Amino acid sequence: MKQLMMVLGACALAFAGCDKKADGEASAAKPLKMITEATFPPYEFLRGQEIVGIDVEICRAVATKLGRPFQAETVDFDSVIPAVISGKADVGAAGITVTEDRRKNVDFSIPYVKTGIVVIYKKSNPFKDVAQLKEQRIGVQGGTTSEAYVLEQFKKEPERSRSPAEAVAGLKAGRVDFVIADIDPAKNCVKGEADLAISDFITSEEYAVAIRKGQPELLKTIDAVIAELKANGQLATWIEQYTAESDKLKDK
Ligand code: ARG
Repeated sequence: MKQLMMVLGACALAFAGCDKKADGEASAAKPLKMITEATFPPYEFLRGQEIVGIDVEICRAVATKLGRPFQAETVDFDSVIPAVISGKADVGAAGITVTEDRRKNVDFSIPYVKTGIVVIYKKSNPFKDVAQLKEQRIGVQGGTTSEAYVLEQFKKEPERSRSPAEAVAGLKAGRVDFVIADIDPAKNCVKGEADLAISDFITSEEYAVAIRKGQPELLKTIDAVIAELKANGQLATWIEQYTAESDKLKDK
């Protein structure tokens, strides 16, 4: 027992040592950890092994504002908000739509984009209106507002995939009749696919950054960063730049 205490004591010392440099200056702050689901261009996607995109830039800007290093990790979309709630991550940014349900569990920043979901269809089986979807097999990315839409509007289960692209692969293969997804990844999916098209918006949604409840200071900082990125045109530049980059990845 005594030995254990000594070990613990040594650990505590080692820990204390982490906070101070030899010269007494504070060492690097803890990284700001972003949690996302990186199959969602242009908001987040993989450039080789690296997670990049508009949401990544926004969260990196928050880290810079806080003087903290930055880290991003990708998980399945339905694990993004749980990671924020549990404190596994500091910020959740994954094209997350603000919904009243989610507001019960996390706090949202001011929105940074207005958007919505659309129907992806085969030109050989054109989309006319949502009433038509009721009896059809519909593919969605699991955990998304597209899934919630099918459950609420049609009182039925959609076919869940791990990414919008996987849902669209199901459409091409005939496993589903239509796919519902957010407009930007949907556009990316149909790019270069002569037999696919997308509808107009069927909902109106807004994306925001999610954080664990009860952190008003962090929320204020994120809001200030987003307001600045909107005002100075940087957000618009990133949207343009990452749309072009993710479109190009599709060409390959
Ligand atoms: N906006 C939709 C939602 O919040 C879909 C987001 C999916 N995001 C992602 N990175 N896969 O439910």
